[in-house]
Amino acid sequence: MNDSVLKFYDELAKEYHLLFVDWNHAISWQGEVLNKVIQSKLTVSTTNNISLLDCSCGIGTQAIGLAKYGYNVSATDISPRSVKRAEKEAVAFGVKIDFGVADFRSLDKDVSGSFDIVMSADNAIPHLLTDGDLYKAFQNINTKLNQNGLLLITIRDYDSLVKEKPSATQPRVFDEGKRIVFQVWDWAGGGKTYTINQFIMQEINGEWKTKHKKTEYRALLREDINKALSITSFSDIEWHLPTNTGYYQPIVTARKL
Ligand SMILES: C[S@@+](CC[C@H](N)C(=O)[O-])C[C@H]1O[C@@H](n2cnc3c(N)ncnc32)[C@H](O)[C@@H]1O
Repeated sequence: MNDSVLKFYDELAKEYHLLFVDWNHAISWQGEVLNKVIQSKLTVSTTNNISLLDCSCGIGTQAIGLAKYGYNVSATDISPRSVKRAEKEAVAFGVKIDFGVADFRSLDKDVSGSFDIVMSADNAIPHLLTDGDLYKAFQNINTKLNQNGLLLITIRDYDSLVKEKPSATQPRVFDEGKRIVFQVWDWAGGGKTYTINQFIMQEINGEWKTKHKKTEYRALLREDINKALSITSFSDIEWHLPTNTGYYQPIVTARKL
């Protein structure tokens, strides 16, 4: 990971909702789908008294959605501006969440207590560009889980993406043509990493404005994740694919040994 990640999300914090057709709807829908996956892994069907840490909460999309289901949510992120916005959004949505700024490679020292569930949604983990950083994050998540606690991660389907190495995402056109969002991907390292150029184009008062920011990702394959989870003492590794969950990314769950 490099500094560009923090800069990218700090600069995007105010506009992050513009990446969604309707962010409020995304909060409810993601909460519903992720709650179902979590419930399928719990032995008792309840959300009461279940502690959950979202360790890459961004502006709060999943943390708020799951807090509405009654989980006892804590939420952290490396981007202080994203956390600040998430705090305000949680108040607006009427949910109570404990927020903090933390790098998921140092949760052990940055976050107190332990949790029944630790999660990281929407492709945050692939910002870690080396095995060393990936293992550090999984080890830190492991130390924050209660015995037999559940890890849940959602990431892009790189097993399929590396076959095609797309050079851009399809433009998504919102607000009756007044907002266009897309990414241009520059592949490097023989297809192991890529830089994303995020574009948000908006017509404001009759004039088009374009915002562009970039950051780097590692194309993490499912076998890379499985290996890293096994090495860092996780068991019961299970992939929940979009065809079964309806979510837009593969979801992996695992348990602290
Ligand atoms: C694509 S965003 C997803 C945010 C949120 N989960 C959502 O879906 O709205 C990825 C998030 O991961 C965070 N992130 C990246 N690297 C991180 C790290 N080392 N520790 C904690 N958070 C990190 C970023 O700041 C960003 O908020």
